[in-house]
Amino acid sequence: MKKIYIKTWGCQMNEYDSSKIVDLLSKSHGYIVTKKSENADILLLNTCSIREKAQEKVFHQLGRWKNLKKNNVNLIIGVGGCVASQEGEYILERAPYVDIIFGPQTLHRLPKMINRLYIDKNPIIDISFPKLEKFRSFPPTISSSPSAFVSIMEGCNKYCTFCIVPYTRGEETSRSSNEILLEISNLAEQRVREIILLGQNVNAYRWFDTDGRVCTFANLLRLVAAIKGIDRIRFITSHPIEFDDDLIEVYRDTPKLVSFLHLPVQSGSDRILNLMKRSHTVSQYKSIVEKLSKVRPNIQISSDFIVGFPGETESDFDNTINFISEMNFDMSFSFLYSPRPGTPAADLPDEVEEEEKKRRLYILQNLINKQAKLWSDRMVGTTQRVLVDKILRDEFETISGKTENNRVVIFNGSYTNMGKFVDVEIIDSGIHYLKGKLLSIDNKINSL
Ligand code: SAH
Ligand code: F3S
Repeated sequence: MKKIYIKTWGCQMNEYDSSKIVDLLSKSHGYIVTKKSENADILLLNTCSIREKAQEKVFHQLGRWKNLKKNNVNLIIGVGGCVASQEGEYILERAPYVDIIFGPQTLHRLPKMINRLYIDKNPIIDISFPKLEKFRSFPPTISSSPSAFVSIMEGCNKYCTFCIVPYTRGEETSRSSNEILLEISNLAEQRVREIILLGQNVNAYRWFDTDGRVCTFANLLRLVAAIKGIDRIRFITSHPIEFDDDLIEVYRDTPKLVSFLHLPVQSGSDRILNLMKRSHTVSQYKSIVEKLSKVRPNIQISSDFIVGFPGETESDFDNTINFISEMNFDMSFSFLYSPRPGTPAADLPDEVEEEEKKRRLYILQNLINKQAKLWSDRMVGTTQRVLVDKILRDEFETISGKTENNRVVIFNGSYTNMGKFVDVEIIDSGIHYLKGKLLSIDNKINSL
């Protein structure tokens, strides 16, 4: 059996792509996954270029793999993902021993690329952007977990001034709603209970059927919620500018949609939001959350923040800090601004010292961690609905699962609870997980 070793950096989209690569290559060439690179017949690197040093990291990794090729001349090395999309041929210039360079939209062509390598050993570069071809090439998903990702759209047209994604992943492209619903029904038959809809900007989702009728993201959510067996729906990531009233109504009418939303804001200063070209103000963001809170009083919001955007003043930063307290954001992601070559913000003058940026990030992360811990503390004594997704230690009957607000809860229970929704009383809260006590098990699969 031939073996594949795949290393993945970056977002959930890359994780998803890597899992699809494995499915594809196991079907086409019978490859099985190995965790040891030295045992592999093919080594793939699925890269990310969202923040700094992405390129250097890639060449370091390739340098290590080069030695493996010395011992095995037939070893195939491939580089995919956003760095491949951005650098293309340059990768071959610096690392001529690489055999395949593929982009996020051409990974489904890997089986053919590998076949071509068997015929002649010339390196192959394909980082084009064929629309939708990729999704139609994937074999049906087999899920061993009760929770599954389903990609609904890709790419981004927003062109935030700091972000490389629109250049590496291409324009917003939605998948057919029928294909998505079929995939989810198929997963439900495999006892998947939770679906995480995936896309760079899920609320930009639009599918026009042959009659010209449009299926929006809100429509799609309603259709997914109607699938028997699917009891919990999440999505990542949405953008504040397409968070319309129809989507708020889905929150009002669809209990299966979780009361937890990751909605990136980046900054609490209108001046910085404008420089970032986010196309909304702080008060517009607040108004979305207010509307959501009216239909879902218990909704929890998490976000993304960039600290040290060019020209960010002390007062801009204070606005962000005040905004974080006011909104009481839960666990969020925060990053130091990293200039991305080719993006408009990379040319902006930036006088803030690196040390100062780091100081700001530290303050911001401390505040968010404190708030997140308080959210967890408040859960102690409550009963939470948990989807069991891991058997931690079978012999001690320790299992774990996730609450609606994305917290891991560890508790005593049997492996027979795997994949089921259970009611758990929260008895303690730690930094990374909660401890709970099993109360009851929900054996029924939701039927509409
Ligand atoms: N909507 C997308 C956003 C992709 S990038 C999604 O989440 O799928 C994820 C996050 O990375 C952004 O929200 C932003 O906070 C951060 N980010 C993007 N470009 C960055 C840069 N140049 N420097 C620092 N952080 C960045
Ligand atoms: Fe990037 Fe902004 Fe799109 S953060 S992914 S350009 S919404």
